[in-house]
Amino acid sequence: MQPSRLILPLLWVASARAQNGTVDLQWHAPNKTWINDLAAVMNSSGTNGFLFNNSALPEGVKYGTYNWCNMPHVRSEEYPTASEEYSLEYVEVIHRHHKRTPYASNTFPKESYGWSCSEQGLFYYGQPLNPSGNASAQSYWFVYTSETNPFAPPGFNGTCQFPQITRQGLDDSWQHGKDLFGVYHDLLNFLPSEPSEKVQYRVTNNAITSQVAGMLISGMYAPKEPVPLRIQPSSVDSLEPGYSCPAGSALYSAYGVGSTAANWTAHLTSARSLYASLDDISGVPTDSTDWHKSFDHYYDNLSARQCHAKPLPCKIGDSSKCVSQEQADTVYRLGQYEYSFIHRDSPKSLQAAVGSYGVFVAELAQNIRDHISGKSPLIYRHNVAHDGSVSRLLSILQIDVMVWVGMGSEVVFEVYSKKGDDAQGKKYLRILWGGQILRSSNPSLGLVDMLDLDVFLAYVDGLVGAGANTVVGFCKS
Ligand SMILES: *[C@@H]1O[C@H](CO)[C@@H](O)[C@H](O)[C@H]1NC(C)=O
Ligand SMILES: *[C@@H]1O[C@H](CO)[C@@H](O)[C@H](O)[C@H]1NC(C)=O
Ligand SMILES: *[C@@H]1O[C@H](CO)[C@@H](O)[C@H](O)[C@H]1NC(C)=O
Ligand SMILES: *[C@@H]1O[C@H](CO)[C@@H](O)[C@H](O)[C@H]1NC(C)=O
Ligand SMILES: *[C@@H]1O[C@H](CO)[C@@H](O)[C@H](O)[C@H]1NC(C)=O
Ligand SMILES: *[C@@H]1O[C@H](CO)[C@@H](O)[C@H](O)[C@H]1NC(C)=O
Ligand SMILES: *[C@@H]1O[C@H](CO)[C@@H](O)[C@H](O)[C@H]1NC(C)=O
Ligand SMILES: *[C@@H]1O[C@H](CO)[C@@H](O)[C@H](O)[C@H]1NC(C)=O
Repeated sequence: MQPSRLILPLLWVASARAQNGTVDLQWHAPNKTWINDLAAVMNSSGTNGFLFNNSALPEGVKYGTYNWCNMPHVRSEEYPTASEEYSLEYVEVIHRHHKRTPYASNTFPKESYGWSCSEQGLFYYGQPLNPSGNASAQSYWFVYTSETNPFAPPGFNGTCQFPQITRQGLDDSWQHGKDLFGVYHDLLNFLPSEPSEKVQYRVTNNAITSQVAGMLISGMYAPKEPVPLRIQPSSVDSLEPGYSCPAGSALYSAYGVGSTAANWTAHLTSARSLYASLDDISGVPTDSTDWHKSFDHYYDNLSARQCHAKPLPCKIGDSSKCVSQEQADTVYRLGQYEYSFIHRDSPKSLQAAVGSYGVFVAELAQNIRDHISGKSPLIYRHNVAHDGSVSRLLSILQIDVMVWVGMGSEVVFEVYSKKGDDAQGKKYLRILWGGQILRSSNPSLGLVDMLDLDVFLAYVDGLVGAGANTVVGFCKS
């Protein structure tokens, strides 16, 4: 990491601002809450009302509450219907996939119990699209390990891919689709009643997003015909994101995960005794960089279990030593702190996100423009993505309170026209986060509720440049 890389992006933001004087392209700090207050994270207990142990909310808890296992999304019960004078023109949805097993990299070297996925199949086959061609059997993957294969896999025994969307995660995906359809079709009469050229779905190269999409589309349309899932080549995928942005990666690791900056390492240092205890129970080597450069692995490991009502892990060979709920809660608070630091608190987060996610945002702006110009018939685009996608998007939008975006976390862009208004064809934008109107710390965006669409487009253009050329320039710098 050369110092010039740190300076360049700041100059670049400043110059874009100068050319777009009416829109503020600067980073603005998020609200001060417990999430970005290290003392409040370390010296407290519980999870401040955040939930980590069930897709369903406990009795009496309001929808909209942070629920890591199944985050709130647009549903008719809570949907903030726009006032009559506005008419909806274009919608683009992006959300994280639903709950899954942990990634193999987040499993302990040895697990004290197995994890079965035998109640579902991962359908995977190719078939000619011509309906009169030879059809494929509906063949699916069934994971197994062989007694004869001496290379026992690390982590859980059982019949899951690590990761795969779990049975409950599939149902959460279906319900997510049904809820969106309940608003954009049943309530607003906006979506067509059958899938058509007005509606499009997109996934990433990670198969778990396709597992979600299939269930979600069934929840929306239960279509009888096959439905295409658009996907970009993995090496350039802007949704995941998968395109190469060395300067963006270098910037992230200069201030966040992997960096030695004192304000990043502070929380790792103050959690030293927690780490020692978790390492002892899990068997994770104390010198494992992956597990100790951030709380990502422990967080994923513990939360995936708890979302599926599995017990917290115990030490192999000493079942009296187990991870306590109090320790798990501390890991969950630290996870929130890390996400807020990486994606919002650091003044460099905006630049890093624009580099690594600017292409998706450029595509979003182009999609909106193509709708307005009549170039595209699409009125609804739906993207199934990851926490790394949604976090970077929220970073670019400069959300006022950042969290680690849980399973199914959703952002919706709604473009409206206004009746009677419109000699100039003016358009307005609402952004919904978790089903409610998003507030940005950037004063040009603010509460994104019928924001002049030109302001938003100028913000995006100013950050990413025409054809995302500023992103390309930065990534190669
Ligand atoms: C963040 O602060 C603003 C300004 O004080 C406030 O209006 C907003 O509600 C806060 N956001 C959240 C999520 O509490
Ligand atoms: C937590 O409280 C202890 C005791 O008051 C203090 O020494 C420590 O610095 C606090 N930790 C943080 C991160 O503020
Ligand atoms: C889930 O967590 C909440 C909040 O921490 C707690 O009140 C509830 O008892 C837990 N539920 C289960 C099934 O453990
Ligand atoms: C958690 O980590 C342990 C230890 O590496 C591993 O065995 C287990 O599979 C992980 N579990 C999850 C849910 O990631
Ligand atoms: C996992 O499988 C291996 C090999 O079959 C076996 O030795 C081990 O006891 C199993 N572990 C658990 C927790 O079931
Ligand atoms: C099925 O495949 C065979 C072998 O290539 C081919 O001869 C046949 O025409 C195909 N049938 C249809 C309906 O396409
Ligand atoms: C971390 O420290 C750097 C260098 O002093 C500073 O520029 C940055 O604002 C700090 N970040 C946060 C989130 O406090
Ligand atoms: C400023 O915003 C306008 C309107 O969206 C856009 O056409 C122009 O490209 C932007 N300028 C820069 C330097 O990004």
